[in-house]
Amino acid sequence: MSDHAAPDHIDNMLHESRVIAPSEEFAAQARITREQYEEMYRRSLDDPEGFWGDVAGELTWMKPWERVLDWQEPHAQWFVGGETNIAYNALDRNVERGLGGKTAIIWEGEDGEVRTYTYAELLREVNRAANALTALGVQQGDRVTLYLPLIPEAAIAMLACARIGAVHSVVFGGFSVSALADRINNAQSRLLITADAGQRRGGLVNLKANADEAAALAPGLERVLVVNRANTHPPMQPGRDLWWHEALAAASDEHEAVPVDSEHPLFLLYTSGSTGQPKGVQHTTGGYMVGTYLTTGTVFDLREDDIYWCTADVGWVTGHSYSVYGPLLNGATVLMYEGAPNHPDWGRFWDLIQKHHVTILYTAPTAIRSFMRQGDALPARYDLSSLRLLGSVGEPINPEAWMWYARVIGGGRCPVVDTWWQTETGSIMLTTLPGAHPSKPGSAGLPMFGVEPAIMTREGEELGPDEGGLLVIKRPWPAMLRTVYGDDERYRKTYWGEIPHVYFAGDGARRDADGYVTVVGRVDDVLNVSGHRLGTMEIESALVAHPAIAEAAVVGRPDEVKGESVVAFVLPQSGAEVDPQDLRAHVSREIGALARPDAIIVADALPKTRSGKIMRRFLRQIAAGKEIQGDTSTLEDPAVLERLAATEAV
Ligand code: WT7
Repeated sequence: MSDHAAPDHIDNMLHESRVIAPSEEFAAQARITREQYEEMYRRSLDDPEGFWGDVAGELTWMKPWERVLDWQEPHAQWFVGGETNIAYNALDRNVERGLGGKTAIIWEGEDGEVRTYTYAELLREVNRAANALTALGVQQGDRVTLYLPLIPEAAIAMLACARIGAVHSVVFGGFSVSALADRINNAQSRLLITADAGQRRGGLVNLKANADEAAALAPGLERVLVVNRANTHPPMQPGRDLWWHEALAAASDEHEAVPVDSEHPLFLLYTSGSTGQPKGVQHTTGGYMVGTYLTTGTVFDLREDDIYWCTADVGWVTGHSYSVYGPLLNGATVLMYEGAPNHPDWGRFWDLIQKHHVTILYTAPTAIRSFMRQGDALPARYDLSSLRLLGSVGEPINPEAWMWYARVIGGGRCPVVDTWWQTETGSIMLTTLPGAHPSKPGSAGLPMFGVEPAIMTREGEELGPDEGGLLVIKRPWPAMLRTVYGDDERYRKTYWGEIPHVYFAGDGARRDADGYVTVVGRVDDVLNVSGHRLGTMEIESALVAHPAIAEAAVVGRPDEVKGESVVAFVLPQSGAEVDPQDLRAHVSREIGALARPDAIIVADALPKTRSGKIMRRFLRQIAAGKEIQGDTSTLEDPAVLERLAATEAV
């Protein structure tokens, strides 16, 4: 565990006192009013079985559950004994209730190509893919790794896996060869689904070339299914590689969804923790389905005619829960955009909103801050009047960015929901409901149904209003992770072992007298760079794998756009020269471009205690250009700090 309480860059948030009520117009037509929230929330805590049973009952189950919850700390089973299929609920169920002709996905490629799928069309494609996967020998419980651009086939592949009870493991297309290989190996996937290339900032990301290199490092991988996205004609290895379109063309578009146990694993999603090894967060079917279904409908106040756009890539949990599963379970029309927000210029998002009449936009503070830097004139050139609701996710949003988002993008009429949750929580945990609650910019807000948060000390003592401490959740919820794949001990320790009997989120937070929770940032050695979670230890292991580096310590530094940026303190091997560009390229190769250090400080020593522990607290102060504060007397050599502070970053 780390030696700091919370990053300092959110100081200003703690002094924010604006309260912004939803417009009367929005409140009057909201799906959930304040009174309803109060009543539903109370029931969700007093009678969880009744509450969740009712929500689950809105969806289709092939076999009813016997018990809503079986909680053997730290293991929860939800809808015990029930059988369902999430792809059935996302597709067949909607077709059956008359939405077959409704648009499910509007997809736009970075080059402007547009494709749409109705619910009936999407169902047929998913059926074909499910049959194709079965023909390839994929069986219930098998893990299938996906390494794809943000194209409809990504959603189709996820749903096809779910339809046959296979477990998908999506790896973000920006991750490197070795990150991909590690994830394939950890999940023991025999099948990888990739594409020849994806479009990004006017260029191509050659996914197939990475997949080929990763396959060479993954001895258990047998087949590679390749989507032809960009006509780049990659070499295909006979016997191993197969074109997606050929496999689907040969398959029937009829398929009966396989009923799976409510606790059958749905997906793995690897995320960074405080060790060097990312963990495979495992989600299961029934609880995740119910959690994402309820939160998407209520937090986004979803209506029949909404055009809903969550900008997240399917490589992250937001893309799983709120680009694919949650909205499709609700029968919504979802926009998917493949490319960069600044291609061909920073007006691209506004162009997409205008063109597709987007009504709900859900994006990350880092994007909002980038847009804000471009000024108000650019969005003003577009008609954004279709928007009625805005959402934020992934990192703390500073009140300035919140206000800009509400005013310039939301035209002063759209409520903004700031949603706090995690890969592990599966669904939104803290937020305001758009028509029910006033917002306090910078504060995520109130607990979602069934969520019982508290702020505690490390010793498990509950803190009162406005006292800063650790954010915990006091009871299980349906969409929570069930384990860390292949490492249940790590699951127990990380989430239920830090403070007895509560879920430990790894975030610092405080709660005000109205119950609004402000999440200030990670308290473990995890960074949040542009809303992407990175472990400092992962970057450190990448750095020391370089022949010129003997030792490394990585910390975050406040960054106006990215929230945090990566600062690396490195100790060269004796006699070695450090080439900063080469070192950055090396980190990109080892993890991915998102982990590249912004600043590298070549040091002759690191601040260590006599027992050899690196005091990152001081490194964070130096990285931020601050005065050294705190007790330096435990350091073996306090003079190291002055030397580091005087060293120019490269
Ligand atoms: C970490 C989880 C939630 C899906 C995307 C990120 C930070 C997330 C907020 C928010 C303040 C937030 C936390 C959390 N975080 N949302 N609204 N306000 N912080 O998922 O990669 O698992 O990261 O993101 O630090 O622990 P993730």
